Amino acid sequence: MNKTIIAHTPAEMEEIGVELASILTDGMVVSLVGPLGSGKTTLSKGIAKGLLITDVVVSPSYMIAREYQGRLSMHHIDAYRVSSLDELAEVGLDDYLPPESGVSVVEWPDRIDGLVEISHIQVSIELLDSELSEFGEDRRVNISKQ
Ligand SMILES: Nc1ncnc2c1ncn2[C@@H]1O[C@H](COP(=O)(O)OP(=O)(O)OP(=O)(O)O)[C@@H](O)[C@H]1O
Ligand SMILES: [Mg+2]
Repeated sequence: MNKTIIAHTPAEMEEIGVELASILTDGMVVSLVGPLGSGKTTLSKGIAKGLLITDVVVSPSYMIAREYQGRLSMHHIDAYRVSSLDELAEVGLDDYLPPESGVSVVEWPDRIDGLVEISHIQVSIELLDSELSEFGEDRRVNISKQ
């Protein structure tokens, strides 16, 4: 599967996550690649909603990872401050790549060599019209399933 969708608003980005959740099964890794502020956490909130997670999903940045329970558990990982798989292993997070149960949703997977490649679903987000910041809310979202 490979599809491209334009998300015009944060709500549309969240909806893409809700739909994506419907194809997730135990053991999957979803990588979310995109520049700062492109909507990775917004999309993650949609995935959580689609997985019937009722807890509020916040950016995992300061924790590196958070876990939520729903139809499947969701391990939400932010690799922004991590530079290698060894570093992730030091905090025990390599266990979630891939996870034995539940799914892992990873922001900044491109900080870790090979992580995007081993992901079952690769999402990449591009900011459109960034030069028109006042109106630059459109994101191009490409989803590919291995
Ligand atoms: N079409 C859109 N899709 C997603 N977010 C949008 C869109 N338009 C505007 N936004 C805004 O952009 C911001 C995206 O923030 P979000 O935290 O989801 O990005 P991020 O990629 O996780 O950032 P970071 O790189 O810091 O982790 C939010 O304030 C959101 O409201
Ligand atoms: Mg984020």
